[in-house]
Amino acid sequence: MQAFTYRNQILHAEDVSVEDLAETYGTPLYIYSRRKFLQQLKGLQQAFAAVDPLICYSVKANSNLSVIKTFSEGGAGVDIVSGGELFRARRAGVDASKIVFAGVGKTSAEIEAALREKIRFFTVESEGETERIAQCAVRLGTVGRIAFRVNPDVDPQTHRYISTGKQENKFGMDPARVREAFKRAVAMPGVEPVGLHMHIGSQILNPDPFVEAIRKVTPLCRELRDKYDSFKTLDIGGGLGIGYEPDDQPLEPTALAERLVPLLQELDLQIVMEPGRYLAGEGGILVTRVQYVKDSYHKKFIVVDAAMNDLLRPSFYQAYHPIAAVRETEKTVLGDVVGPICESGDFLAQDRTLPNVPANELLAVHCAGAYGFTMSSNYNSRPRAAEILVDRNQARVIREREKLDDLIRGEIMED
Ligand SMILES: Cc1ncc(COP(=O)(O)O)c(C=O)c1O
Repeated sequence: MQAFTYRNQILHAEDVSVEDLAETYGTPLYIYSRRKFLQQLKGLQQAFAAVDPLICYSVKANSNLSVIKTFSEGGAGVDIVSGGELFRARRAGVDASKIVFAGVGKTSAEIEAALREKIRFFTVESEGETERIAQCAVRLGTVGRIAFRVNPDVDPQTHRYISTGKQENKFGMDPARVREAFKRAVAMPGVEPVGLHMHIGSQILNPDPFVEAIRKVTPLCRELRDKYDSFKTLDIGGGLGIGYEPDDQPLEPTALAERLVPLLQELDLQIVMEPGRYLAGEGGILVTRVQYVKDSYHKKFIVVDAAMNDLLRPSFYQAYHPIAAVRETEKTVLGDVVGPICESGDFLAQDRTLPNVPANELLAVHCAGAYGFTMSSNYNSRPRAAEILVDRNQARVIREREKLDDLIRGEIMED
């Protein structure tokens, strides 16, 4: 299913005109397709059905309560990385037994909150963290389930900012340390080591790094499984890439499953997956209105009302997002799409063939459902965009546009 298609030359989100939504709710505007979100989840569930994984949607990709609730209603659990995400997940009604908690720097307060909620497990990144979880759990008279994060030292062939499973990355522990840490944790009060975890990176388009990582941890999995009754789970993380660029071949779940399922079946463990981008990315667009079209020395700048504070990925990772006119046009122009922020790095596209649209027309930035709104900020004192969730011919505001008063909430002006 295509979430965003043209009807009578106007872009639609499912059955709703994007032009009408922009007129009603203003721009910049995030628009999501509920059916696309659920279709992605279903595709993954079906592809990996043979190992019956618990798919934990990675909330950092898009943490709007209604988005979390959509995935939860589709049968997913969640992967969280902060007390804030725990709060959101519980508010969205996610069952605590389907929450896994990752991250290298969990504070005692965050750990205690998760212990009180009785989450499924913490993924543990260091010996220090194991001890801290144990101490918190003993203090609360409970036991924290933990899965050690292995750093398999695999190159995920992605942008270096989103590579997480190589030696030089801060994440996880090498297999020999994990073996020792697991052994120590078995004898420790307050923790129950239940498995291993890994997450090698994001926007991965090739199954090979996943295969290599699983192959690398397989001997350790076998060893721990045979030694310890509590060892029952392997969490293989997220990282499935989507097709941002015209030449990108998206990683199809069936193609990935074909390679991974035989390796996973052989381990006979409860499998957990943590996709974020794959579930949410293609189901969202950012709609922005052209303010000016400006000619400079040798190029054209299309100045729009969305900026790096709304969608950081192009500035931060030099990421490519497809950009199309909301009112379909064949005319193109070579140039940049830039925002109003006072940074030369504030662009949504650079040196690209773009739709040739005049001021006041609308552009849609595609593949913006993941790491879009969640990475947005108030930089340059810009209120953050509204978010809309479309389901067939229904459109609901799932986050109101911020108002000027929201910008100064919590600030104290000195006498
Ligand atoms: C531990 C962990 N799991 C899952 C994810 C989700 O990754 P993706 O959105 O690429 O699927 C991330 C992303 O940073 C992560 O750090």
